[in-house]
Amino acid sequence: MNTSQKVVVVTGASQGIGAELVNAFRKLDYRVVATARSVKPSEDPNVLTVAGDIGDPATAQRVIAETIARFGRIDTLVNNAGIFVAKPFTSYTAEDYANVTAVNLNGFFFITQLAIAEMEKNGSGHVVSISTSLVDHAIDGVPSVLASLTKGGLNAATKSLAIEYAKRGIRANAVSPGIIKSPMHAQETHAALGGLHPVGHMGEMSDIVGAVLYLDSAPFVTGEILHVDGGQSAGH
Ligand SMILES: NC(=O)c1ccc[n+]([C@@H]2O[C@H](COP(=O)([O-])OP(=O)(O)OC[C@H]3O[C@@H](n4cnc5c(N)ncnc54)[C@H](OP(=O)(O)O)[C@@H]3O)[C@@H](O)[C@H]2O)c1
Repeated sequence: MNTSQKVVVVTGASQGIGAELVNAFRKLDYRVVATARSVKPSEDPNVLTVAGDIGDPATAQRVIAETIARFGRIDTLVNNAGIFVAKPFTSYTAEDYANVTAVNLNGFFFITQLAIAEMEKNGSGHVVSISTSLVDHAIDGVPSVLASLTKGGLNAATKSLAIEYAKRGIRANAVSPGIIKSPMHAQETHAALGGLHPVGHMGEMSDIVGAVLYLDSAPFVTGEILHVDGGQSAGH
């Protein structure tokens, strides 16, 4: 096995930003491990797909074990899997709470633990998590406390991990998107959603991919929450 080629694990990789990340990392000749519930096998020998629910810690175990068995190392983990449920606060059900915290928090916590344990063996690595600028900038008319609760947790944990591992060669960063043209948002909503950004339009998936690739190539950047949000977090 050639273990000098870099290896990235991408969660939420069956569609949207995650699928674009898989393509972008392959263009940079990374070996890619793509996981999501509905991810399909790839014909590319440098892409390993592992199907599973990232809210279940057993999926994290399987993804990391299969990554090491097939590719021998982990250089980068992108915690991209996420779900968004916008509702008035008192309308959230216990099931909404369980679903959102499972994907957005369990889906970060368990796989990040296992990935960092592998990175420590090599004395290097990078964890990037996809957050949301709603954390810093709540929007009147888009009630979404569960997004702020969970993604705000990712922002805080990113800084905490950055400091805990700074001297061990492992970096932690986050990308904080505005509203992005992904399958998450139906085409007919784009004009209205675009108007929620100071720049007057939504972001593209390539904007988020570019930010992840920048952070991955920036050895002096750790603990950063990189806002890619058309100015949302700056103000209105
Ligand atoms: N699009 C936006 O406007 C926007 C804004 C801010 C932040 N974000 C964040 O960006 C990330 C990617 O979003 P996107 O727009 O690309 O969304 P998307 O098109 O809905 O894709 C979400 C991905 O997460 C996976 N996923 C969902 N539940 C899962 C589960 N239980 N287990 C494993 N995988 C699961 C989905 O795969 P399966 O269904 O196959 O499992 C899919 O691959 C998310 O973290 C999202 O919160 C997006």
